[in-house]
Amino acid sequence: MIWSGILIYWANQVYGIRIFGYELFKFFPPWFYEYLGIPFRLAEGLQLHFFFMWFFAVNGVIYIIYTIISGEWRALVPIPASFKRAPLVALHDAHIVKKLPPQGKYNDAQRIAYTSIILMGAGSVVTGLAIYKPMQLSWLTSLLGGYEWARWEHFYLMIGYVLFFVVHIVQVALAGWANFRSMITGYDAVDAAVSVDKPPIAATEEAAA
Ligand code: HEM
Repeated sequence: MIWSGILIYWANQVYGIRIFGYELFKFFPPWFYEYLGIPFRLAEGLQLHFFFMWFFAVNGVIYIIYTIISGEWRALVPIPASFKRAPLVALHDAHIVKKLPPQGKYNDAQRIAYTSIILMGAGSVVTGLAIYKPMQLSWLTSLLGGYEWARWEHFYLMIGYVLFFVVHIVQVALAGWANFRSMITGYDAVDAAVSVDKPPIAATEEAAA
């Protein structure tokens, strides 16, 4: 979606970071487009974008239904204490404090991040629809502040995904190979000898309850 979006954006590049009228950074500098071979591919970008948006939206809906039916949402959605503990998780990850706050399958920073990314996905669908059909869905476009605002929101959500992706990849790399393997397979390989002394997290949570 990001790639096809950039193919579209090239045709009308309006965003940048400006201070007192002085442009510090333009999304994106000319070399970026040239290096990736982006120019003059607007039609291709639109086709790809409107094809893959169906997979993006349907996949998101299936994921949400699955988390509800399986009860996984309980481990993913932040609880009130998450907002107090998440900064401590960040301080722990930055090696500023030693003690990690108590956690279940996911820590509080993960709960907030993973729920936010789902809300951002919904935001992309909603803002995307508002700029895709601004006439037919004029009520939605107005609700989002009008066409210009909806386009802006759609674009900056994409920047949000890129930032999330970078932090996520760094965290996954730091968490190590075993964690990555369990992210892909959905299973955690546990050394039988160790597991006798240290029960799995689910069992610890049950015991605590
Ligand atoms: C799923 C429903 C989506 C719909 C209906 C949709 C629709 C659109 C439309 C109509 C445009 C053209 C805007 C213009 O005229 O400039 C656009 C641009 C764009 N989209 Fe989407 N989009 C969707 C999802 C996404 C997602 C998930 C991403 C990124 C992760 C994304 C990233 C972009 C980007 C970067 C642009 C170019 C920005 C711009 O030109 O303003 N879109 N999208």
